[in-house]
Amino acid sequence: MKRVAVVGFGYIGSVIGAVLADRGCQVVGIDLNQGLVDAVNRGECPIPEPGIDDLVAKTVAAGRLSASTDMAAVAGADVVVVTVGTPLSDEYDADLSHIRAACMGIAPHLHDGQVLMVKSTVPPGVTRRMAEEVLLPAARIHVAFSPERLAEGAAIREFQTLPIVVGGMDRAATAAAAAFWRSVLDVEVIEVASPETAELVKLACNQWIDLNIALAHELAKLADALPWPIDTLEVIRGANSLKKGQHYVNILTPSNGVGGYCLTKDPWFIDALGKSNGLDLRLSAAGRTVNDGMPAYVADAVDLFLKGRGKKAAKIAVLGYSFKTNSGDCRFTPVDPLLAALRAAGHDDLHIADPMVSDAEAAHHGVVLTRDLDAALDGADAVIINAAHDAFKALGVADFSRLLSPGALIYDGRIYYDRAMIDALTASGFVYRGVGRSI
Ligand SMILES: NC(=O)c1ccc[n+]([C@@H]2O[C@H](COP(=O)([O-])OP(=O)(O)OC[C@H]3O[C@@H](n4cnc5c(N)ncnc54)[C@H](O)[C@@H]3O)[C@@H](O)[C@H]2O)c1
Repeated sequence: MKRVAVVGFGYIGSVIGAVLADRGCQVVGIDLNQGLVDAVNRGECPIPEPGIDDLVAKTVAAGRLSASTDMAAVAGADVVVVTVGTPLSDEYDADLSHIRAACMGIAPHLHDGQVLMVKSTVPPGVTRRMAEEVLLPAARIHVAFSPERLAEGAAIREFQTLPIVVGGMDRAATAAAAAFWRSVLDVEVIEVASPETAELVKLACNQWIDLNIALAHELAKLADALPWPIDTLEVIRGANSLKKGQHYVNILTPSNGVGGYCLTKDPWFIDALGKSNGLDLRLSAAGRTVNDGMPAYVADAVDLFLKGRGKKAAKIAVLGYSFKTNSGDCRFTPVDPLLAALRAAGHDDLHIADPMVSDAEAAHHGVVLTRDLDAALDGADAVIINAAHDAFKALGVADFSRLLSPGALIYDGRIYYDRAMIDALTASGFVYRGVGRSI
């Protein structure tokens, strides 16, 4: 049985730790957060990821998962996985203080022969720097970088199905890291030449996603501006039927914006890396700017509708506060700037509902959520749907007809109603608008 220490037991660490424990590893999660450690040891998990609470409860009860604030717990591990945060610094670069502190904290407790993998997202060169400056002087261990690419909301499944990339400090480190993943997960393992290659793989993935969504947003804005009815989702479906080389065009979908911990920062790591190497890279800033503009774009459309109807004190139901469908994670949610833009336009009667978000998480963000979806919708002059959570997908025309004020606006920020639903809403007297869906 593999013994694994996961250093940084937050969102990613909890998923990795709980899944590995479920697959038979003996796992200790190490974190500075005493409250988090205590919760895990009680079999609870505060991370708002579907299914993680059951997995933590099950593996703690089975005696295969525990947590500690003691860095010395790495001493008992065959494999150490580092998953501490790497936030965006004030200079729009990676803040490496957590990863450096974590490496320095565990270094005195490492011993020869262990495998250490960095999974925190870092710019190329950071794993090598940590290895050479902190880790390898402490013990002869195998150091590698292995990007984590799972998506919140489907994290447990994705961690067990996505190919894993590993790049070690030398061939032996790459081989040891790859052998570990092959032994614990039934996934393809891709070995690359260096930690820097693997580090750039992660940034390339998130840069691609952010730019791709920015493209969808610009197409959507164009569709809205053109004088003909164009549904950007149809445009994208048509465009995506084209095969180029080995793959199809794959334009993602427009929405109310891009949030979360990763896409809002990782493109800036590329930008900073370019600057520090004398390059004037343009794409990161362009993509970030386009995507950051979407919440205000949605707020403007809603404001325009309400003012056009002469509604001064309009009630607006905001469905969805987390940044993503089926996740309760509110970090850098685009709904915050959306709410700010609505308030700046004079709309204060805002009723925000999100069944995925806990009261504690909402309070942490300074937002009051209503738990009563009917009450949020009752008499609303506009509804903005920011997530396709199951509770929102369950809403039908009859619910809207029973609750909303006649002729209300239904603004589709991310639920992507099909033609039949849009026709039914319109037939019931509602006005449907979506990002890039002037239909
Ligand atoms: N959240 C995602 O969807 C996702 C996906 C892929 C990669 N990543 C990357 O994974 C990393 C972690 O992200 P996250 O979302 O899990 O962050 P998080 O903030 O949820 O978790 C980080 C954890 O590290 C702990 N920590 C900080 N300093 C520590 C130290 N010195 N020693 C021990 N623990 C310490 C914190 O208390 C926290 O619990 C980041 O680099 C992120 O970019 C995140």
